[in-house]
Amino acid sequence: MAKLDISVPDLTLPDGNKIPLIGYGLGTAWYKSDSNAPKDQKLIEATKVALKVGYRHLDGAEVYNTEEELGDAIKQSQVPREQLFVTTKVIVNIEDIPAAIDKSLKKLGLDYVDLYLIHSPFFAKGDKKALQEKWAQLEQIAAAGKAKSIGVSNFLKPHLDAILETAKVRPAINQIEFHPYLQHGDLLAYHKNKDIRVAAYAPLTPLIRAKGGPIDGILDSLAKKYAVSPGEILLRWSIDQDVLPITTSSSEQRLSDYLRVFTFKLTPKEVEEISQVGNTHHYRAFWNDVFGADDRS
Ligand SMILES: NC(=O)c1ccc[n+]([C@@H]2O[C@H](COP(=O)([O-])OP(=O)(O)OC[C@H]3O[C@@H](n4cnc5c(N)ncnc54)[C@H](OP(=O)(O)O)[C@@H]3O)[C@@H](O)[C@H]2O)c1
Repeated sequence: MAKLDISVPDLTLPDGNKIPLIGYGLGTAWYKSDSNAPKDQKLIEATKVALKVGYRHLDGAEVYNTEEELGDAIKQSQVPREQLFVTTKVIVNIEDIPAAIDKSLKKLGLDYVDLYLIHSPFFAKGDKKALQEKWAQLEQIAAAGKAKSIGVSNFLKPHLDAILETAKVRPAINQIEFHPYLQHGDLLAYHKNKDIRVAAYAPLTPLIRAKGGPIDGILDSLAKKYAVSPGEILLRWSIDQDVLPITTSSSEQRLSDYLRVFTFKLTPKEVEEISQVGNTHHYRAFWNDVFGADDRS
C-alpha cells in the first residue's frame, strides 16, 4: 500500500485549543449495545491502525461502550498523550455528570479528555433549565481540569440559545449529522455568528446510506477531476465549509486515502453545486425517532 506522509492540520477552537481537522470515530459501526460485552479486539487494532496512519483525533462516547478499547489502543500505540485529541460524550449518566466523567476517564485510562460533549439535548425534552443546569456542570468539569474543552452534540438553535443565556464558557463545538442531504437550513451560519465550531458525523451518508441520490454524478466527476474517491469529495465538501468531519473505517487503505483531503480544495462553485443539488434531497441517518420524516432542522 502506498504510504502517504500527510499531517492533519488543526482547527482552532474558540477557547484557543486546537483540534485535528478530521476525527476517527469509535461509534456507529463499532457501537456495542451491551456494556458488559468483552472488549472488541478488532476495534483496538483498527484504532491503532488509525493512529499509525496519522489520525490523532479520536471520537468516543460513554454510550458506544468502547471507551475501554479506546484506552487500550492509546496505551498500546505509545503515541504521547499531548499529541492526541480525545473526545468523549455523556448521555447515559447525564443525571450525574461528575460521576460520568470519572467513569469515562477510568475506562479511557486518562487524567483528562480534550473534549467533553453533552451527547444530545433530547433528554431535556425542551426544558431550558435542564439544559442550562447540565451545561453549568460541564463548565465545572472543565474548571476541574478533567476536560480541556467542552461542547455539545445534536444541538439545534433553541438548545444552543438556551445554554448561551446562562453560559460562562460558550460551547467550543457542536457535533451534528451533516452531509449534503442534511444541511439544517441556516444552522452553519448561526454557528459562525455565535463563534461555535461544527463537527460533522455521518459525513459519508450520501455514499453509504443514501446511494442513488442526486449528487452521485457530481461526486463521481469531482472524484475523477481530483484523482480521489467520492468519499474524499464528501469529506472535503465539509472541510471547505470549516466543518470538521468525523468518520471511521476498518480499512487501513481507506483511512490512509482519506488523508488526501488535505492535498486539494474544492472551488467555491463546486462546494455550492454539491450544497444546492444535495438540498433537493433529504436523508437523516440518526435520531429519526425524534424528527419527522421531512424535518430538515
Ligand atoms: N454525536 C452523535 O450523535 C454521533 C452519531 C453518529 C456517529 N457519531 C460519530 O461519528 C463517527 C463516524 O460516524 P459514521 O460511521 O456514521 O461516519 P461515516 O463516515 O458516514 O461512515 C463511516 C462508515 O462508512 C463505511 N464506508 C466507507 N466507505 C464505504 C464504501 N465505499 N462502501 C461501504 N461502506 C463504506 C465505513 O466502513 P469500512 O470499515 O468498510 O470502511 C464506516 O463504517 C462515529 O464513529 C461516531 O464517533 C456521532
